[in-house]
Order: sequence, then C-alpha cells, then structure tokens
Amino acid sequence: VFHTPELTPTATIADCAIAVDVLRATSTIATALGSGAEAVQAFSDLDKLLAVSETWAPDKRIRAGERGGSQVEGFDFGNSPLDCTPERVSGRRLFISTTNGTRALQRIEAAPTVLAAALINRRAVVQHLVQQQPDVVWIVGSGWEGSYSLEDTVCAGAIAHSLQAELGIALEQIAGNDETIAAVSLYRQWQDNLLGLFHHSTHGKRLLKLGITEDLTYCSQQDTLDVLPIQRELGVLVKQ
Ligand code: MLT
Repeated sequence: VFHTPELTPTATIADCAIAVDVLRATSTIATALGSGAEAVQAFSDLDKLLAVSETWAPDKRIRAGERGGSQVEGFDFGNSPLDCTPERVSGRRLFISTTNGTRALQRIEAAPTVLAAALINRRAVVQHLVQQQPDVVWIVGSGWEGSYSLEDTVCAGAIAHSLQAELGIALEQIAGNDETIAAVSLYRQWQDNLLGLFHHSTHGKRLLKLGITEDLTYCSQQDTLDVLPIQRELGVLVKQ
C-alpha cells in the first residue's frame, strides 16, 4: 500500500513500513550503511540531533543536516549520498536530519519492521518482502512538505512492480489501494529513463538549481546496492 506521510493511516499499523525518500535521504542512508557506517540515527529535529550526538566521541560520529536541499551550517555533511564514502563513514554513526525523509521515518517508527528504500537498494527490499511475506506493507513516500513527489511514487511503483514479478501474481493481488496501481503505472512508463523523470520533478528541479546534478544521476540507478537498512531500535537503522 503506497501512502504519503500526510496520508499515513494511524488507525491500523503495518507489519512492515518502508520509508522512501529517493532524493535523497533514503539513498543517503543506504549508501552510508553500504560504506560501513555503524548505524544511521534519524531525527526530525536538528537540536535533538545535536544534543544526542554530543554524547558520542567526535571521531565516531558524523552529523548530517539538510534543509531545503542545502547543508545546514555547522554540520559535517548535507544530504549527499556521494559524501558517504567508506573513507569518511566507515565505523562511524551518521546522525541525520533532513527536510522530509527523516520525518517520514519518524511517522512509521512504531511498525514492527521499519525499512528505508530507494531505487538503488530496491532489490534488497523486495527480497526481504519475498522472504518475510508480511501481511500488510506500507510504502511511505516522503514527498515535500506534505505534498506528492514523482520520485518517491516511482520508487514505490518499482518496489511493487518487482514484488509482483518475483511472486508471479497479478498486481491486484498485492496492491491494497489505487495509489499503488498508479505508482506501478508511473514506474512502467519511466523505468528506462528515471533520470529524465527526476528532471520533471519539483525536488529534482530544486536540486538542479542548487547545482546538485551528480546526486540525481546516482539516485536514479536501480538495484546497484545490496543493502537493507532496517530499524534496530527507535530511530536507529542498521544494515541487515
Ligand atoms: C528530504 O528529506 O526532504 C530530502 O532528502 C531533501 C534533500 O534532497 O536533501
């Protein structure tokens, strides 16, 4: 079932909830864990991030802060997955707060299983779903300040499309709402030109205006990273 964070139902809770912020928080989280970060701890609030990370040795932590696409002053990183090289993040904890992605993670943190998905680690997420077969799955697109985003929707569609193919069943059998079917249609239309789609998206254009072009290319790749970020304790994601 695909939702945006504003529309995430609160009455029921998913067995498995998946946060998606292709541009760029969940791409960054997966990349950091793939590069050997010990964990990624996500915060919606910058001050809380600073207070919690203060208790960590400076050489064991990296503080990543992004607002409006730009790096927050005084933070080590903004929100670029390309900063997360093994040299910079290996053995360290990434403390991260972004405009929407870390808020989406917070919205779903009570689910029994919480994952972070992007296009680059789509296959790892789908493999987990195929193995675990949870009854109710939410794919929660971060969007932008509560509104729809093309890149998160297309990633939700990519996950549902691939899950359907793996299970060999009709789309209707796995899609719990109309949004999921629309997301799969978007993916099938654009799967060979995801970077082109990002050039049409509001946040893609925002990043391009800031001169952030390489991140778009990197985040538009599919199945390049065999990393499953999974929540181990509230707000803390590790590589499974
Ligand atoms: C967000 O959380 O809104 C994004 O990851 C923004 C960004 O591209 O840095």
